[in-house]
Order: sequence, then C-alpha cells, then structure tokens
Amino acid sequence: MKSNKPAKTIFVCQSCGYHSPKWLGKCPECSEWDSLVEEKLSPALSSNTTSPSRASQPVPLDSVEMSQQRRMITGMQEFDRVLGGGLVPGSVVLVGGDPGIGKSTLMLQVLHRLADAQHQVLYISGEESLEQMKLRSDRLGVSSKDLWVVSEVGLESITAVANQMTPRAMVVDSIQTVFTRDLTSAPGSVSQVREATLHLMHLAKRTGIPIFLIGHVTKEGAIAGPRLLEHMVDTVLYFEGEQNNIFRILRAVKNRFGSTNEIGVFEMRDNGLCEVTNPSAVFLSQRPSDVPGSVVTASIEGSRPILLELQALVGRASFGTPRRTVLGVDYNRVSLLVAVMEKKLGLQLMSQDIFVNVTGGVKVYEPAVDLAIVSAIASSHVDKSVKDSTVVLGEIGLTGEIRGVSQAEHRIHEAYKMGFKRCLLPGDNLKHLKGLADMETVGVHSISELLDTLF
Ligand code: TYD
Ligand code: MG
Repeated sequence: MKSNKPAKTIFVCQSCGYHSPKWLGKCPECSEWDSLVEEKLSPALSSNTTSPSRASQPVPLDSVEMSQQRRMITGMQEFDRVLGGGLVPGSVVLVGGDPGIGKSTLMLQVLHRLADAQHQVLYISGEESLEQMKLRSDRLGVSSKDLWVVSEVGLESITAVANQMTPRAMVVDSIQTVFTRDLTSAPGSVSQVREATLHLMHLAKRTGIPIFLIGHVTKEGAIAGPRLLEHMVDTVLYFEGEQNNIFRILRAVKNRFGSTNEIGVFEMRDNGLCEVTNPSAVFLSQRPSDVPGSVVTASIEGSRPILLELQALVGRASFGTPRRTVLGVDYNRVSLLVAVMEKKLGLQLMSQDIFVNVTGGVKVYEPAVDLAIVSAIASSHVDKSVKDSTVVLGEIGLTGEIRGVSQAEHRIHEAYKMGFKRCLLPGDNLKHLKGLADMETVGVHSISELLDTLF
C-alpha cells in the first residue's frame, strides 16, 4: 500500500476544512486568521474520494430490492422512534452533544439492549479504560455476554477489529479521539475527524455493520468545529438537556431513513437513562396551580404533540436598560411579541424586566407557541392567573392577528387526554375543528381579543 514517493502535503483550515496547496495567513473561505495547518495528503483520502473500483450500472428504480433495508429494533422505543423505526444496516449515525450530557451512557444502554436480543455488539472507547466501562455498566445494573468492549483509538486497529468480529452494531466513542497515522495532525483536528469518518462510512457500507459515532459538540455548537461530519453521515442525532436537569432529549436533525425533528425523551437517573413514554405528564408534573405567569401549550415535536409549560416573570426594572432573559424559546421571537403587545395591547413593558422559560429544559422553536408566550407575559404583568385547565395555541403576526397552526386537532386531543377543559386557539382553526365533548374551544382572532378570554 505504501508508496515510496515523498508524501504530498496540503494546508487545511482547522476551522472550516478549506484546503490550499500553499500556506495562507487568512482562510479565504471562513476568514479565520492563522488557521491553515500543513497536513500530509493521505493516499486513503485521495483514493476514497475518487471513482469507485467497480463502475456501477444504472438500474430501473422499480427493480431495486428492499431486502437489505430490514431494520434492527433496539427495544428502546424512544430511541427506535428517533431513528425512524429502528436501526438500518450499514448506516452511520452521529450522536452529538455537550460533554457529560450522557452520550456514552445512552449508547452503552442501547448496545446492552441489542446484546440482550442475542446480537453480538462492539463498543470501542477511546475515552475510557475497560475498567471505567465496566464500572458504568455495573452502575446501570446490566450485563450481557454479547456486548464486547475494546479501548482503542487507532483507525487501522478499529477497522481490523470490526472486520474480524463483524458485530451486528458498533459504537465509536468518540470520533474526536480516533486517529490515523497517515496524517500528522493531532486527533480531533478537522482532517483526522474527516478521514476517520470517511473511513468508517466505507466500513459500514461495505460490511453492513451499523456504526454509531459519538461526537462532542464544541463551544460554537457544531460537531468537531465545522459541521463537516453532518453531511457525510446518514443520521445526525443530538442529545440535549441541561446538565443539572434530569430530562434529556434526543433529537434527529438529519435522517436519511426517517423523519427529522422527531424527539425521544429520557430521564437521567442514578442507574442510567429511563425512557419517558408520556412526556406531557412529566413536563407538567411540577406545575404550580393557579399562579400568574404560567401557561400550558401543545407543541408538535416530530410526530407527536407534547404539552409544555411556559413561564414568564415580569417585574419593574431596577435601573437602566430592562433585562430580557429567554430560555427554551427564541429570543428574537420574544422581543417581537413584546413589541406587538406594547403596540396592540397598550401594555407598558418598556420599563419591565422580562424573563421567559420553558420548564423541563425543553427547547421549542415553532411559532405555534407564540400565543402561550404572550399569555404568560400578560398573565405575569397583570398578576392574574390563567386557569389550570386552559391550554393555548396560536401563532401571532406583526399586526397582532392570530394565525392558524398545523395539526390543531392532534394538539387538542393531547390536551384533552391530559385533562384540559378549555382551549384558546386561532379562529381559523376552530372553523375546521370537529367538536370534542367536555372541551370548550374558544377561537381568538387577534391579540386584543386575548385578554378578554384568557382569564
Ligand atoms: P456520560 O454518559 O459519561 O456523558 P458523555 O458521554 O456525554 O460525556 O454521562 C455523564 C453524566 O451522567 C455524569 O455526570 C453522571 C451522570 N450519570 C448518571 O446520572 N447516572 C448514571 O447511571 C450514569 C452512568 C451517569
Ligand atoms: Mg462519554
């Protein structure tokens, strides 16, 4: 394999992956200074990206057999759903998240589930020793003889182990620790991570072994600095949550084999991650009763509606510019809604500090929560509570109009199931809604109508 020719080198930008044959002080792609580092042009990299060894022949799409698309069910329902209904053979799944959020724990539990179903699986850790993995496994209270572990960081050794063992699934923890000797740059650098991912992609496609790559998210929120891994792999899952909150949310942001924006909800306990099968009940479980500033809404996450509590606290600003602190919803959206409230409701919010939070560490970005944000702020401002049994839905436009939301019926059913008795929703949605016994539905058309119906 090794040629005697002197290795060619290129200069690669460590923040965006741009390469150039000569050194440059500033990267022309991302304008970063002093980010180009000399690297050997590895034979693997160049041969992998050029034409395949065997020319592929086009075939009619109708004649393609679906046989290899049989999915492997892990038995962890929340996880299977996020994957799009199980694990596709030969797929590469990137599991990203902040350090310490529980990625290793999640993947170890998933492999344990597969091993319990008599699948031989392999966990490759470059971050922890075998003793540490055993300790974690004991803590989770699980053991299975079909789960194999190895502590390894060399790409060549990982490939050799995988080829020899051909496990039914494998985890590489983490992709940032994997390195190949073909490149001189340090593990975790753009070129190492890209080369390792490319190599493992080929391994997965060739052998049909599904591979999970664990990736740490850097400060900028992207995996391995630039988002260069996201387009290479089949599926990208993010494991999110607040470090000091017990809830964890697994979110699909890219999925070649299923819908994106599907979420799975977990609870981090002393003995590992527990599936939360009824998230609405959990997110509302600690809701205070009849207090100003708390409002419930139904948000569609992936394929299902989830009830969430939005809280706002509005208080007189002590001095200077009033504070606006927003957690779980978009900051700019809240600013926009506050401006609409001032203009259309005549509320004096300019001199007020405003804090908005979605409880349970959940993040929601769909506009259907607008009405809940406005209701929570208004409720706290006028110090009147919204009834416990009321749920609100609706998007708000700049002129103060309430716009329809998607899947209104779906959302209302979830609220109904959880015992809500009254729903404020866009007038537009009300027209198309089939009535529900025991559920009062009130259509609102503009934000000025809201205050009359809310309390
Ligand atoms: P870990 O899976 O190591 O995180 P990552 O791989 O994303 O860096 O999880 C680390 C945290 O999870 C750690 O702070 C302890 C906590 N934890 C529990 O609360 N319960 C458990 O059963 C386990 C194994 C970890
Ligand atoms: Mg880890």
